[in-house]
Amino acid sequence: MDAITGVRDRPFTVLGIETSCDETAAAVVRGNPPGPGEILSNIVISQIEEHRPFGGVVPEIAARSHVELLDGVVERALGQARITLSNVDAVAATAGPGLIGAVMVGLTTAKALALAAHKPLIAVNHLEAHALTARLTSGAAFPFVLLLVSGGHCQLLAVEGVGRYRPYGTTIDDAVGEAFDKTAKLLGLPYPGGPAIENLAKHGNPRGFPLPRPMLGRDNADFSFAGLKTAVRHVVRTSPSANPADVAASFQSAVMDVVRDRTCVALRRFRADFPGGGCRLVIAGGVAANTALRHTLQRLCVEENFAISIPRPDLCTDNAAMVAWAGIERSQCGWFDDIAVAPRARWPLQDLVACGPHTAPKSETAIEPQAQ
Ligand code: KG4
Ligand code: ZN
Repeated sequence: MDAITGVRDRPFTVLGIETSCDETAAAVVRGNPPGPGEILSNIVISQIEEHRPFGGVVPEIAARSHVELLDGVVERALGQARITLSNVDAVAATAGPGLIGAVMVGLTTAKALALAAHKPLIAVNHLEAHALTARLTSGAAFPFVLLLVSGGHCQLLAVEGVGRYRPYGTTIDDAVGEAFDKTAKLLGLPYPGGPAIENLAKHGNPRGFPLPRPMLGRDNADFSFAGLKTAVRHVVRTSPSANPADVAASFQSAVMDVVRDRTCVALRRFRADFPGGGCRLVIAGGVAANTALRHTLQRLCVEENFAISIPRPDLCTDNAAMVAWAGIERSQCGWFDDIAVAPRARWPLQDLVACGPHTAPKSETAIEPQAQ
């Protein structure tokens, strides 16, 4: 435990690697919980152009591109941070959830770098990295409510600490970003659909089409978007002359009503669960880049007397700075991973074990960080 206490006393510098989907990313971050941290470099190469002809991410193409790009991206991240591998304290990489071939590339590279430079390895859960980003950017104190909205995830939960997540709601079918992407496809818009729908919706009438608001008014904080997507398909089929901007605006307006309602349920549950705690909503994931969503939830938080933290858009979408920061948070709890740690396609946040000085099992602290 002494070595762990030693780590806590000084800022940690971590190289982070992210390859769980279609962004090849590496970053160097320095800091100490609760943050904010200092982003020394943050390189993200998007593969969107390679996947666009297929209307979505092709796993084999993603994995191959990561193999081709990652070494150069890591080199650039270290160069821009003006640091060598021998001067970082640890190497962190996303170990899941995500496309398994893609995750494998980043994790294997991180293992090789950690072994070569004799640095500890931290296997990061991608969702935890999104969850802790508001601490990297603004030092948000635990506990807070997290709305995680991306292409693959749609969840509301209480973040009580590193590894401590209390689920409030999740989607029973599509993620919200997936609903944006599928609706965009129905309207003939390019991938990724979120930004395309958002831009088109600016020129449309949000009351143009009466679309359903699935789950509105339910007691729990779950989401459902499949029915909304089906309703859009029906409009497109039965009203071929419908103005696409009106469809996009009506769809986005329905999504906003649902997200607002579901988030309101979670905020009220959080207030009941943590009566003495500060009240803060954090939004993370690619859909948090949507301006209408940001404004809708800002208004909700004023009404419900919650503070709100929304990381800047490039830290909401997939990036490696959030992975490096999650690595810092875990390492400062004394948690490092064995070099044999396996990548995982599925890895729900609730499967993480609570991290902290009193709860970290001894076996997880076997590799101790090296002093700088
Ligand atoms: O977090 P992210 O970069 O990758 C995943 O982990 O999924 O999120 C990507 C998702 C895509 O579905 C994309 O359409 C959506 O975020 N997105 C948006 C916007 N920008 C990205 N959705 C709505 N409005 C946006 N401006
Ligand atoms: Zn993500």
